[in-house]
Amino acid sequence: PDILILNGPNLNMLGVREPQIYGSTTLAQIQQRCEAEGELLGLEVDFRQTNFEGEMVSIIQQARDAHDGIIINAGAYTHTSVAVHDALALTDLPVIELHLSNTFKREPFRHHSYISDVAVGVICGFGAHGYLLAMQAMAQLVGVLDD
Ligand code: DQA
Repeated sequence: PDILILNGPNLNMLGVREPQIYGSTTLAQIQQRCEAEGELLGLEVDFRQTNFEGEMVSIIQQARDAHDGIIINAGAYTHTSVAVHDALALTDLPVIELHLSNTFKREPFRHHSYISDVAVGVICGFGAHGYLLAMQAMAQLVGVLDD
């Protein structure tokens, strides 16, 4: 199985971006860990980042044919984007919503997500380790791990 791990705006700045909230691990380091975890789990990992909402929509549309599941950290578009919601709703793929921080412990504008209702589940608050937790959950959804 082949999974898409899609990162939205400002996640390219991890490491220097508010490390007290997001940790000091860079996105490149997270990508390396995800690729290593993919080898252990038997998952091909396509790790992407974009700062553009429309590009996120296009990447999600293309995942339909190329991937078996989507792990998405949509960054701030989580709280604003009907377009990302709609793109996820039209894929037949399992979706896992992911956040480094516990968005429910933060400002009220981060408490609503346009993604949660089109996701199988949500992982938030575990920092960079959440990516590995999400991959384990996805491995189960795509059938490479037993229940
Ligand atoms: C985030 C949480 C969002 O509220 C924020 O806009 C981000 C990162 C997280 O991973 O904790 O950009 O998705």
